[in-house]
Amino acid sequence: MMPSGWRVRPARFNDAEAMLAIEQRAHSHPWSRKQLEEILDSDHAVWVLEDADARCMGYAVLMLAVDDTDLLNIAIEPQCRRRGLGRLLLREVLDRVRERGALRCFLEVRVSNIAAIALYRREGFTEVGRRRDYYPSRQGREDALVMCLELSVEEKA
Ligand SMILES: CC(C)(COP(=O)(O)OP(=O)(O)OC[C@H]1O[C@@H](n2cnc3c(N)ncnc32)[C@H](O)[C@@H]1OP(=O)(O)O)[C@@H](O)C(=O)NCCC(=O)NCCS
Repeated sequence: MMPSGWRVRPARFNDAEAMLAIEQRAHSHPWSRKQLEEILDSDHAVWVLEDADARCMGYAVLMLAVDDTDLLNIAIEPQCRRRGLGRLLLREVLDRVRERGALRCFLEVRVSNIAAIALYRREGFTEVGRRRDYYPSRQGREDALVMCLELSVEEKA
């Protein structure tokens, strides 16, 4: 259950700063401020997880197509991890895209991203492919797993 006073709301352009602060600690190759601002200015679906003091503690970015949606990014403030918030945010945004008619959610994730892969598997995503050398990495390039969730199927309780 969401902690008291916390909520998921659509992101605003002026969330870029707070999102950037999390983004820079979440990824080895984070999105820049300019990229975040372009996303916030686009028709991507972006949601922010905010705490009871209205501080941004996480966000999720999805790209919507007719039947499919792509989860492009999800991140939780490092100090708030392993409290079930990533799961709650993911479930909430999937509910919202399902309401908008999405039938499937696809995503790519680094093969080394144990935490995210575990979260996605637990939420019912299955591996549907692998893209070789998809991401830049500190060692050169890294493969991506492609995962998919059928949104029409009832989610786990
Ligand atoms: C992936 C991420 C969003 C998960 O957020 P979180 O709030 O810590 O996750 P939750 O506490 O909701 O965990 C849900 C489940 O995911 C799995 N999980 C989460 N973190 C894990 C970790 N470090 N190691 C193993 N499993 C993990 C577990 O199965 C967990 O369930 P459990 O706690 O009941 O065992 C967070 O680690 C993050 O922001 N990572 C950096 C950004 C990123 O890599 N995003 C995904 C790629 S786009």
